[in-house]
Amino acid sequence: MSQSDDNLLKKVIAHAKEYGYVFPSSEIYDGLSATYDYGQYGVELKNHLKQYWWQAMVQLHENIVGIDAAIFMHPTTWKASGHVDAFIDPLIDNKDSGKRYRADQLVEEYVAKIENKITKEELKAAKRFGEDFDLDQFRSTNPRVLQYQTKIDSINQRLKEAMEQGALNDLKTLIEELGIADPVSGSRNWTDVRQFNLMFSTELGSLAEESNKIYLRPETAQGIFVNFLNVQKSGRMRIPFGIAQIGKAFRNEIIARQFIFRMREFEQMEMQFFVKPGEELNWYQEWKEKRMKWHQALGLGADNYRFHDHLNLAHYANAACDIEFKFPMGFKELEGIHSRTDFDLKAHEQHSGKKLQFFDPAENKNYVPYVVETSIGLDRLFLALLSKSYTEETLEDGSQRVVLQLPASLAPVKVAILPLVNKDGLSEKAQVLFDQLKFHFLCQFDAKDAIGRRYRRQDAIGTPYCITVDHQTLEDNTVTLRHRDTMRQERVSTESLTSVLQEKCSLQKLLQQL
Ligand code: GAP
Repeated sequence: MSQSDDNLLKKVIAHAKEYGYVFPSSEIYDGLSATYDYGQYGVELKNHLKQYWWQAMVQLHENIVGIDAAIFMHPTTWKASGHVDAFIDPLIDNKDSGKRYRADQLVEEYVAKIENKITKEELKAAKRFGEDFDLDQFRSTNPRVLQYQTKIDSINQRLKEAMEQGALNDLKTLIEELGIADPVSGSRNWTDVRQFNLMFSTELGSLAEESNKIYLRPETAQGIFVNFLNVQKSGRMRIPFGIAQIGKAFRNEIIARQFIFRMREFEQMEMQFFVKPGEELNWYQEWKEKRMKWHQALGLGADNYRFHDHLNLAHYANAACDIEFKFPMGFKELEGIHSRTDFDLKAHEQHSGKKLQFFDPAENKNYVPYVVETSIGLDRLFLALLSKSYTEETLEDGSQRVVLQLPASLAPVKVAILPLVNKDGLSEKAQVLFDQLKFHFLCQFDAKDAIGRRYRRQDAIGTPYCITVDHQTLEDNTVTLRHRDTMRQERVSTESLTSVLQEKCSLQKLLQQL
């Protein structure tokens, strides 16, 4: 992470706390690591993001419906899904610093550094050759790039084999051979690699016996699989169809850091799309495209997204990728798209003894559907939005302002209503407007401080529009409408305010781009 990007993350964290977006959890007791609370504006933004996702899934697709399953599930669920046996991370400690790391991530970070070197070579060459530059040719012929790529391929191959075979010694050997040092202390004095299950467990009822052990769900997806038949039958759904869900998930992450990027309690928005066996890869491709379009409609910049196809496929998947986003810490996973075959439904059939099949009238036969999953972390989406919206500006008069340039349809407060001065009946007039607009938008009424300071505060919260009620309002029923990003002001009649703002702030605008 470069110094400036590191600074950006720090600034976003400080801003989120100061302006009521995100607070450290139980802060008066010095907080709880990797747990955060969403404040008065954070919860609004989060709710709008959920609406955008939910409406894009459930409202825009006649063959997708939603559910809300319980967080606690029968413990056999997690045996069937593979989480009891295989939801494990290899961890390693540095003996000198006492810091704990995920062994596979240490190797991945090493690979990312080599990838950065390749990118630097490409940028240098692009500059040198100008318009004649051919990226593909450069990649396949430049000796230095080829050398880097060979090294990456060989490391990835060894990592893949060690992970697939659970060969913890090989993983340690790889770390030692690459000379990977603790990023904090620089020491290469490592412990052996050990396995660690990421599920949180607790007991059902009053007896702390092994048979009463239940888990906090580590993904929402299993709540969908176990309800496949309930939804299919009660909704008379026909393949292909999808089930969507938004809810909390819990993982005892070994290293949870980088703010709300990796938490122990977080929220997922997942959709399982059930398809005819053999058609899953076409659907996988379709969902890849659809999801990328959904992200890009947010207007955070197409260059900030990329696909990362998985080299190491989980045993149940026949294709998988991440949509990565350029966070302040660099490109990182924001969403996963997985072709999960019939693994989950078959496993639940075996463990429950119940059939989880679809009768296809066209084929006149039963089959276990295949599944294409889209899974996005709501908190990561929130961080993506906050970090790209955070803008520092120097104005013409030399003063500074911080603006959250959130899309108007997602901004927590849509409009602030500000009487220019708190006298001459302006506040009363502003109050009438507030009472008119509050049925349509979350509004704020603010009569304190100089008008410039009130504008700055709304800029920092990300409020896209401010309405100022002045003496002219009393004469001709017009107000000034101030635009957050340009600071441009226009005169608008009070009667047209609701429709003008509705046009600018509605979620429809985003959804219509899909
Ligand atoms: N059902 C599939 C599944 O859970 P995953 O890749 O493990 O797949 C999906 O998780 C998404 O959940 C990730 O892309 C990420 O956005 C989010 N996520 C996973 N672990 C997280 C954590 N510890 N904190 C915040 N978000 C997380």
